[in-house]
Amino acid sequence: MSDRIESRLKEDRRFQPSREFSAHARVGSHAEYAELYRQSIEEPEQFWRAQTQDLVFRTPPKTFVEWKLPNAKFFLGATLNLTESCLDRHLVTQHRTRAAIVWEGEPGDVRTLTYFELHREVVRLAAALTDLGVIAGDRIAIYMGMVPEAAIAMLACARIGATHSVVFGGFSAEALRDRINDSGAKVLLTQDGAWRRGSVVPLKKMADDAVAQTKTIEKVVVYRRMGSERTPVEMREGRDVWWDDLLGRHPSEKALALAKSPPAFDAEHPLFILYTSGSTGKPKGVLHTTAGYLAGAHVTTKFVFDLKDGDLYWCTADIGWVTGHSYIVYGPLSCGASCMMYEGAPNFPDPGRFWKVIERHGVTILYTAPTAIRAFIRWGDDWVNKADLSSLRLLGSVGEPINPEAWTWYHKVVGKDRCPIVDTWWQTETGSIMLTTLPGAAYSKPGSTGLPLFGVDIAVVRDEGQDCAANEGGKLVIRRPWPSMARTLWNDDERYLKSYWDVMPNVYFTGDGARKDEDGYFWVVGRIDDVLNVAGHRIGTAEIESALASHPSVAEAAAVGKPDDLKGQALVVFVTLKQGQAATKELKGKLTEHIDKEIGKFARPDQIRFTDALPKTRSGKIMRRLLKEVASGALETKGDTSTLEDLGVLAKLRADEE
Ligand code: WT7
Repeated sequence: MSDRIESRLKEDRRFQPSREFSAHARVGSHAEYAELYRQSIEEPEQFWRAQTQDLVFRTPPKTFVEWKLPNAKFFLGATLNLTESCLDRHLVTQHRTRAAIVWEGEPGDVRTLTYFELHREVVRLAAALTDLGVIAGDRIAIYMGMVPEAAIAMLACARIGATHSVVFGGFSAEALRDRINDSGAKVLLTQDGAWRRGSVVPLKKMADDAVAQTKTIEKVVVYRRMGSERTPVEMREGRDVWWDDLLGRHPSEKALALAKSPPAFDAEHPLFILYTSGSTGKPKGVLHTTAGYLAGAHVTTKFVFDLKDGDLYWCTADIGWVTGHSYIVYGPLSCGASCMMYEGAPNFPDPGRFWKVIERHGVTILYTAPTAIRAFIRWGDDWVNKADLSSLRLLGSVGEPINPEAWTWYHKVVGKDRCPIVDTWWQTETGSIMLTTLPGAAYSKPGSTGLPLFGVDIAVVRDEGQDCAANEGGKLVIRRPWPSMARTLWNDDERYLKSYWDVMPNVYFTGDGARKDEDGYFWVVGRIDDVLNVAGHRIGTAEIESALASHPSVAEAAAVGKPDDLKGQALVVFVTLKQGQAATKELKGKLTEHIDKEIGKFARPDQIRFTDALPKTRSGKIMRRLLKEVASGALETKGDTSTLEDLGVLAKLRADEE
């Protein structure tokens, strides 16, 4: 069966949550999890009704789901203003004066916004946007750094039913332009500049360059983060307006009205568009709607992060990614959580910054990405050990497969062997977490993303659609619609159908390869497009990469195939080393032996290339497409490089050709 994906890496360790953790967890045992899961699949309507009881609906839903491939509608008949669930409902409880956002700027300045204050800022901006002529259904682009105003902007849009499209502040003017043009945004919210590694990212200047090549933007609202001395900006008469001037001194009549009685929208009202880069072609504008998305974000946040009074929860993602949408803004606020938000780089002024933030504010839950974890490993344990991390009680990972080596480091060095880790698998398109181990309910296995979350009917299947056997690699698919799923791609229903629902009959295709083990735990082995075919063996990139990263000298690795006359595909691996390790020929020999042992001789790399850095997307994913080009000696890049973190990395990789 040549289309099967092989799996050679075995991981037998299991990490059980402590009795103490389970005793206080929302779901404290596997049996409880299994019963809730059963209910969510067999009686979905009852499950979702019970679990969304604390959300605010103006009119309750009549029908739970209506599904006609590829279009799903959830909570039909319901109307709501989603921000009431995130803000207003907390104003009548003790949460009113609780910190909604604890923010630390890169220079070290701190601001705290209580739920009361956040609500006030949101309604003021919402009213001001309506003054600019924004009405429900208009698209608003948000191009900001990690400041509380970015969250305020998103919520203000939601308050008046405008559809936001957040464009990550690290993107170029061209990337912003394309996203504005695709969504037809009418207003752009930005800021003068943002701090990043000690220097200023001139957001307003880049926004000007972008807007010059768009036709739809009527107004640009500019938040002043830097001040005119540090970052002078040009304000274009009639188009540009300062955030503060727009808000005025006092809440307007309109703001007071919006505070008291916000409009209600249909359950399927478009909440946001978020562009995600396809591996080729133009970015996809993933559209999420209101009630289903909120339900998914809310319920998963509640269960996965097991929030308690007194928690300070920190998701380190940028607000420009879906993780920032679902797990900095909508999920946590709908749960009344206190959220840490940090503006800058993890290694500014030194690689100890994250740990100092945790120590300074008493962060209890940390949710970050494998790429960051591997960078911390590379920088050395001392930076972590210098800080007091005793406040932490739960850790999370998202964005890529986490190799067991990084997992155990995270568990031991950061979590001091006492914090459960939730490895969460999901996608921009899924809107909320689909796979993980609930922290008090199930043991984890390093490298596995665990079990399906509620309502998620997920499976690993063969090309023809039958279930794979235990541990047999195949395609990861979801077999029934779920509330927070993307509804379409903006202006491109056909691409939506083709990309996700038309690949395998009647199921949603995730694009990932995976296997499910004998305990029902899922292991993502990488994107199907990247699966390697070495000497007749099909193997996921994650397998080779994890094997390499389990060698003590290696910090991170990326594996790609390069066309080979003899073998079909030759295996090329790019390896970054831990600090203090020398890139020698001898080490190449050792890594080859290591692969022999961990995976098998057939998987011996044909080429090992040491490098200081790997090309990554701004969200930290390795861009294997570019590495493939480098491996096959291409001097020019064919595809889109707008999502590449650092173009210099690519040039350097080419120059380093052995
Ligand atoms: C793709 C989705 C999820 C929000 C951030 C990224 C990969 C994500 C995991 C994980 C293994 C993971 C998958 C997925 N991925 N989380 N825990 N283990 N792989 O969202 O940019 O839409 O990317 O990221 O390949 O399909 P995204």
